[in-house]
Amino acid sequence: MSGHGDPIPMTSRKCGPLNGEAHVPGDKSISHRSLILGAMTVGETKVTGLLEGQDVLDTAKAMQAFGAQIEKIGDTWHVHGVGVGGFAEPDNVIDCGNSGTGVRLIMGAMATCPITATFTGDASLNKRPMARVTDPLALFGAKAYGRSGGRLPMTIIGAENPVPVRYATPVPSAQVKSAVLLAGLNAPGETVVIEREATRDHSERMLAGFGATISTEDTPEGHVITLQGRPEFTPQTIIVPRDPSSAAFPVCAALITEGSDVLVPNIGLNPTRAGLFFTLQDMGADLTFENMREEGGEPVADLRARFSPDLKGIEVPAERAASMIDEYPILSVVAAFAEGKTHMPGVKELRVKESDRIDAMARGLRGAGVRVDEGEDWWTVHGLGHGNVPGGFTAETFLDHRIAMSFLILGMASNAAMSVDDGQPIATSFPIFESLMGALGAQIERT
Ligand code: S3P
Repeated sequence: MSGHGDPIPMTSRKCGPLNGEAHVPGDKSISHRSLILGAMTVGETKVTGLLEGQDVLDTAKAMQAFGAQIEKIGDTWHVHGVGVGGFAEPDNVIDCGNSGTGVRLIMGAMATCPITATFTGDASLNKRPMARVTDPLALFGAKAYGRSGGRLPMTIIGAENPVPVRYATPVPSAQVKSAVLLAGLNAPGETVVIEREATRDHSERMLAGFGATISTEDTPEGHVITLQGRPEFTPQTIIVPRDPSSAAFPVCAALITEGSDVLVPNIGLNPTRAGLFFTLQDMGADLTFENMREEGGEPVADLRARFSPDLKGIEVPAERAASMIDEYPILSVVAAFAEGKTHMPGVKELRVKESDRIDAMARGLRGAGVRVDEGEDWWTVHGLGHGNVPGGFTAETFLDHRIAMSFLILGMASNAAMSVDDGQPIATSFPIFESLMGALGAQIERT
């Protein structure tokens, strides 16, 4: 298991208005994919705007272990790949740290290469379910040997003679879909993934960008993605857009902090990712999309968020869950400052993220004086309205970056300060969180 340094307890207290521009880091999902697809392409792929969070750095190290050359020169990451099916067998265990996306996508990418690799991660990742990925990879001919319950550490023996696969995903997961598509790259013929609900489509877009023949179709069976194996990839120049999941934190902080007016420029509004922003608007948030445009085939806007004292609790549509799955923790914080109940159904995937996010948020919110009801697949936050959230609690973060950031945002508007037992995981996705929020006017300290 990978190491974890000493915990970093942090405290956030009520602050004045948040003002200014928040330039959030690159998109985590797109960053992982650009390194992995770059490593699967002969020649030099150049990536700028890469998220330099620990999760992505761990994926870069893993790609080097499989034979790619990766270096950063100035602001650009240069990836010299080995080609589809060209991964070398790593000399050592691959440590993916905290990253479910990293490990699951890499398992997919190596599962149809004739090599063996062993994967591990930190205490959070080693608890997470991997059978959702290894089950479809077995259909290609790969074998997986892990701990009981399909957990890491786990060894994957890649298929010598991979066959293409047709797979209907039983869970709404872009990681599972992407693992199957990446495995399908080195199988002859057509690999097909069928999802009941469309999940984030960054893999499909980037595979097409590198030159794969890939199509998507909505049918009565679901969202059907068809990929032609053994493509001729061409190296790419990739500009990673900024991460809407990171933008969520300064946006939500501005909505609940009196007098705030924050601009978060250049945020991708890919419909498979932007659900939170529409949900906040439904709650009555003063959140606008300025300068709407298209960049690299993705809709992009500058988000302006202003203090919104009259937020209302709502029923969040279950069918929106996939497009905002990482944003429920911070949404539950905003819901605490709204009037009335916010009910969030169709979210059992939250229970298998970096932590059980319903449980982690419910514990901290209750500690902060907010009523939360929950079931396996839903939860309800009973909002107290602006000015009425007590705070004054130390929340456990369970090695989960989004839990840590969410409670630090809560502390900016609760009556008493809010602490977290460990803010260290924030560096996995948003290494500049403290300085960025501090520059807007937040008061976050290491305690
Ligand atoms: C991701 C997919 C989602 C998301 C994760 C990133 C991706 O996970 O929660 O943060 O990049 O594919 P699931 O596929 O498990 O829903």
